[in-house]
This record gives sequence, C-alpha cells and structure tokens, in this order.
Amino acid sequence: MKLAKIANRLSGLGSEKWAVHQEGKRRAAAGEPMIFLSIGEPDASPPEAILEIARKQMRPGRLHYSPGQGEPVVLEALSRFYTKQTGRSIGADQFLFLPGTQTALFVAFTSILNEGDEVLLLDPYYATYEGVIAAPGGVPVAVPLDPDNGFHPNLAALEAAITQRTRALLLNSPSNPTGAVFTRDEVAAIGRLCKKHDLWIVSDEVYASLVYGNNVFTSPFFDKDLEDRTIVTSSISKSHAIPGFRCGWIAGSAEFAAAALSITETMLFGSQSFLQDATAFALDTHFVELDTMRSAYQTRAKVLIGGLKSCKTVSARMPEGGMFVMIDVRKSGLSGEVFARKLMLEHNVVTMPGESFGRCGAGHLRVALTVDETQIAEAARRIVTLANSIH
Ligand SMILES: Cc1ncc(COP(=O)(O)O)c(C=O)c1O
Repeated sequence: MKLAKIANRLSGLGSEKWAVHQEGKRRAAAGEPMIFLSIGEPDASPPEAILEIARKQMRPGRLHYSPGQGEPVVLEALSRFYTKQTGRSIGADQFLFLPGTQTALFVAFTSILNEGDEVLLLDPYYATYEGVIAAPGGVPVAVPLDPDNGFHPNLAALEAAITQRTRALLLNSPSNPTGAVFTRDEVAAIGRLCKKHDLWIVSDEVYASLVYGNNVFTSPFFDKDLEDRTIVTSSISKSHAIPGFRCGWIAGSAEFAAAALSITETMLFGSQSFLQDATAFALDTHFVELDTMRSAYQTRAKVLIGGLKSCKTVSARMPEGGMFVMIDVRKSGLSGEVFARKLMLEHNVVTMPGESFGRCGAGHLRVALTVDETQIAEAARRIVTLANSIH
C-alpha cells in the first residue's frame, strides 16, 4: 500500500545516529557491564511531592477529557511562572499544554511551515530537530558553530544562510549537545536578525533551569518586542527529572496560541488532567532536591574534565548549562564515530558520537552526565586509556 510523503520523509530518519548506543544495549543485555553516557535521561528521582499530587489527583473528576489548550490550573501556573521569568505580564491565553517539548516542537513547526520552507539550525543540534522540521515539509538548513569558539553563534554565518524561503530559526540554549548558553547580547543579536528578516524564533528551552557558574539563561521571549515572533517550547522533563510524565508546553503570543490550538486539538484532544495538576504544582514550588541534582551535574562535569586533564589528545570545556559535555577527540586523528565505537567495544563505555548531532559535532563525543561521580571518573580513565593507546 502507498504511504503518505510524510511517512516516507520521516522513515528511519536519524536511526543510524543511535548505532553505538544500540550496540551498547545489546552488549549490556548479553551481560557485559557497560557504562552508559549516551542518553539524556536524568538519573535523579523526581520530587516525591509531585508524584504525590499526581497520585492524589488520579481520581474521578480529574480523569475526564480536558480542554485542548490545557486546564486552567496549569495555564495559570505557567502564566505566573513566565510572568516572573520575563518580568512582564504573560497571560494564561499564551500557552498550550502538550505532552513534552517534543510534541510542542512538532506543533510549533506544523503551525508555521509550508512545504519547502527553510529553518536555520545551529549545528551541532539535537537529534530530533531534522524530523520535526521535515514533518510538515520544512527544510533544515544547518549553520555551523565553531567548537573552538565554545559553539557560540556566528551572526554573519546565520545571516548569510537566510534565503527567500527562510521562515524560522531554531534556538536551543542551553544546548544539547554542546552545553553552550547563549549570552544576552547573542540572543539580542539573533532577535534583531530575525526581526530584520521577519523570521519566527522557535526557542527550545528544555534545559533553561540547568545553568552553571556565571552563565545566565536568556530567552528571546524575555523581550516584549520579540514576543509575537517567538515560540517557546519546554517541559518539566529535565528540570524536574520526570520525562515519563510527558508534561510540556508552548509559550508564545496569544494569537499564536489560538492559531495553533486547532492543530493541538486535532492531534491530541487534551492532556491528562491529573498530570496537569502535578505540573502546576511543580511550576509553583521550589524543590531543594532539584538544586542538589543541578549541582551533581556540575560536579560530574568537573570530575570528567579533571579526569581528562592528563591527556594531550582529548579535552573538554566546562558546560555552561544543560546535562552534557562535549569531548574533543580531534587530536586523536579519529572521528567521533570511530572513537565512540572503539570506546564501547574495547572499554565498555557508551557515548554518542558528535557526528550524530550534525557536521560540526565531528571529532567529538557527547557525554551525558547521568551517572554518579565514581562511574564518571572511571569513564574518564577509560577514555584517556583509549586516547593514549592511539597516540
Ligand atoms: C534539546 C531537547 N529538546 C527536546 C527534548 C525532548 O524533551 P521532552 O521530554 O520535554 O519531550 C530533549 C530531550 O532530550 C532535548 O534534549
């Protein structure tokens, strides 16, 4: 039977990116002790109080169909959260509650792209971005980021990539995989560029709460002047270590939220009310255990980088945010792909090759900081052993 173009476009898209991870999984299933640093799955437990609310609310009255935009309880919590974050009044009508950032990205691009429209992506980029752009027929246009500049944006390169067909720019700060947090000036410059060329800014802010040192999270949505063209996608998956709840949202202008509602309703017909109650509580509450989680990521990054210090062929910078470290293995003369494969086969450490995130990730490994310090230190030792055996 004939399938639609969308099914063919997305079929197998990017599955090769996970080859090293899949092989690592096969080996683990066969009983080999592997260290997995490949998936951005928080290892911390979510705050018990959030689970308690979900349990309590899973009851008659909160198990009906719910409004396509979201329940008032969570829309109002989002309104409070973003009003505080942006410093201006953000209304409850500026949100759509959706099952995770991934669905939010899907709704965002389906709402703004026609076939052939181009979207600027900063390369390296998160593995599913090509798919969410390609789904409605969009064309991802990768704009290189320079590893030697800490993967921060090059405005001239971004502007040079803009054509008559460019509709949007996809921003992800703090970034997966690079760990870069764009400065206020960089975000402002990107905003000016998008305004000048009348582009949407889709801002994936799923790591907004994970920022380290003197770095400060900035969003184009903070600027009232950019509100109409900005679509924020985010969730509590990473911030509250609860990806399985699939609780996320879109924030944007009230006009955009109203326009995208029909797509959301067609696709979803409303999310689970009891999970929206739990998300509202999560957004309204400060959890000390999440501060502990954040500092654990930071400590693990330091342990990893410290463990690599003695080696001349591999190096890594402290991430400015997020939950990943990029290890530069270019001096080994191996691609990230070959290095990651050898590391998995010969040393039982599973990482993601930088090439899985675009051309500019080449010669790097992406390491998820989702195992404890002891395992991170052991992984660093094995990475150095492999690097030293090459040179
Ligand atoms: C950059 C980025 N965006 C989106 C997602 C998806 O997040 P969610 O669980 O909210 O769908 C991830 C998950 O790893 C991610 O790293």
